[in-house]
Amino acid sequence: MYSKELNIIKKSLENLTLDESLQFICDFLQNNIIGYDWVGFYFHQDKNLILKSYCGLKTEHTQIPFGKGICGQTAESNNPMIVGDVNKEENYISCNINVKSEIVVPLFNNNKNIGQIDIDSNTLNRFNTLDLDFLLEINKLVSKKI
Ligand code: SME
Repeated sequence: MYSKELNIIKKSLENLTLDESLQFICDFLQNNIIGYDWVGFYFHQDKNLILKSYCGLKTEHTQIPFGKGICGQTAESNNPMIVGDVNKEENYISCNINVKSEIVVPLFNNNKNIGQIDIDSNTLNRFNTLDLDFLLEINKLVSKKI
């Protein structure tokens, strides 16, 4: 699953810079995958996550300290997180009240966790291992651009 989408992304990234690639991925995923309602990339900087590109509603969470929220937990653990119901997650930062579930997948470059892709959905339990595998592949494509 998602192999068609992955091929389109791979082909489209060929002639894009890193910044253009990040924005393309955010726009493409948000516009083409049902339930990917907010898509963004955060990058690590001095134990904070800095929002670099996104597509979806504007968020005030453009800087998140390590350890805070689902994003901050992933920054520290180096592990992806899938949260089926964000309202049951205690360490969660709400971007808007419509969000019901979330997936965060770390972005590795030379075996170092340097950032993450973060996707919010307005649907409960939207994300599973298919999404995880898809996003791991996307992050590998991004890593090649760095
Ligand atoms: N919900 C995230 C914060 C980032 S927003 O989803 C854009 C979290 O708990 O870390």
